[in-house]
Amino acid sequence: MAVLIGVLAVVAVVVVCLPIAGGQISADAEEGVGPMMPVSAVREGIGLDAIHRIKANFSLDTLLLAGDVALYYNGHVSEFHPSSVIRRNGSVAELPVGADVGVEIDIGSIRANTSLGEMSLDDFLRHPASRMQAFLVIHRGAILFEAYPGMRPEDLHLWMSSTKTVPSLIVGQLVDEGKVDQQEPLSAYIPYLADKANASALADIKVIDALDMRLGLDVEETQATQRDPSSGIRRVFAAEFGEPNPEGQVLPLRDVLLLLEKLHAPGEVVGYTSAATQLLVDLAEAVENRTWAALVQERIWGKMGAEGDAVVALTPDGLTALGHGLFASRLRDFGRYGMIYTPSASDKSVVSAAYLDRIQTGGRDAVFADGDIFKGGIFGQGLYVSPGRDLVVVWFATTFELGATLFAREVAKALA
Ligand SMILES: *[C@@H]1O[C@H](CO)[C@@H](O)[C@H](O)[C@H]1NC(C)=O
Ligand SMILES: *[C@@H]1O[C@H](CO)[C@@H](O)[C@H](O)[C@H]1NC(C)=O
Ligand SMILES: *[C@@H]1O[C@H](CO)[C@@H](O)[C@H](O)[C@H]1NC(C)=O
Ligand SMILES: *[C@@H]1O[C@H](CO)[C@@H](O)[C@H](O)[C@H]1NC(C)=O
Ligand SMILES: *[C@@H]1O[C@H](CO)[C@@H](O)[C@H](O)[C@H]1NC(C)=O
Repeated sequence: MAVLIGVLAVVAVVVVCLPIAGGQISADAEEGVGPMMPVSAVREGIGLDAIHRIKANFSLDTLLLAGDVALYYNGHVSEFHPSSVIRRNGSVAELPVGADVGVEIDIGSIRANTSLGEMSLDDFLRHPASRMQAFLVIHRGAILFEAYPGMRPEDLHLWMSSTKTVPSLIVGQLVDEGKVDQQEPLSAYIPYLADKANASALADIKVIDALDMRLGLDVEETQATQRDPSSGIRRVFAAEFGEPNPEGQVLPLRDVLLLLEKLHAPGEVVGYTSAATQLLVDLAEAVENRTWAALVQERIWGKMGAEGDAVVALTPDGLTALGHGLFASRLRDFGRYGMIYTPSASDKSVVSAAYLDRIQTGGRDAVFADGDIFKGGIFGQGLYVSPGRDLVVVWFATTFELGATLFAREVAKALA
């Protein structure tokens, strides 16, 4: 029952925060978004000088401006972190184009009220302030709409928090296989938590609490805590990026997790945080005695007919895959990943009917009344799946503007 809630929990906050009109863009513009080249520049190639300037200026702070540093980083994560490659294999799941299979619907003319005004999807994708890089609609296994205003189809773009659904799914599989009991503490499975010498606030947290994002730790992730160098989540990010904390120390990720402070008993209060997802990655690796990249390849990537490899960034010591967000692929493979939650899945054993049912009926905010589910990423990426309509909408962007989600919803309604 609770496994599904894990996925729900990770999607929940994003939906709650959906901006309807106004607000978010101007708020960030006031903070100063830094230099802004058009998103089309990274498709065409920005030149060595700009790339060297971006690298010289790269930090969590400049990344979180969602400006040029983030635009380049989103498409080149392996240039910034050590990383693992998740190999594609087997035959590619073909995605016929809708017109070829007799479906004619003008997705680009669908309209929504975005924070940039009411406009069509075509105009939104063209709008310089939308910062949209790619948008794909797959219905009943066929492509109804595909556009790449700010990347090439073969580029690997970060999913950011849309990838939180992956650890939830893999832990869900392990629960279904009887390898993990979600009522057990994480410390029953993860050696560094089991060590008495490592006694910490994490000792009592159960698997289900991590799935539900109810750690009870001072590590909640909001726009404010992401930008506060002394917050728990920012200390986690600093460790992931090899940056010093406010005391000037560069700490390994595990040490930072072990030092997090307890705010509530585990299981009581939802606090959206990448730290919860990261514990699920450690859990799955420990239980299976396999690296995260191997688990994702064997359990998902190698079973969905991916056309390209994926990449997951590692901590500076190379020991931990940052499976909560730093995962990148081609747009079409992001779409094929969404398809594993639909009747068009090429291997129906990856997402069991029971798992999907638990996601849809868990009563969380990110699930619409019609059973559609959504998970976004920090820079405006999105994964919208409608199992009932056999529909997947995925998109990449570098922005804090979330208008694309509105279009995904309108597309779903148009196909009802
Ligand atoms: C680094 O980024 C900051 C913030 O966007 C910007 O003000 C500065 O000009 C950048 N420096 C370089 C060398 O690009
Ligand atoms: C946008 O909002 C206006 C005013 O509420 C409304 O008249 C219009 O139908 C909306 N457009 C869409 C596409 O929802
Ligand atoms: C205890 O934590 C330290 C620091 O993270 C780590 O090096 C050590 O391996 C942990 N002990 C176990 C048994 O995992
Ligand atoms: C992990 O796998 C290796 C290689 O098969 C094995 O030697 C080792 O004992 C395993 N570790 C655990 C904790 O099962
Ligand atoms: C592809 O990888 C999956 C998962 O590792 C494996 O089960 C499958 O046999 C592989 N397929 C081929 C054709 O190699």
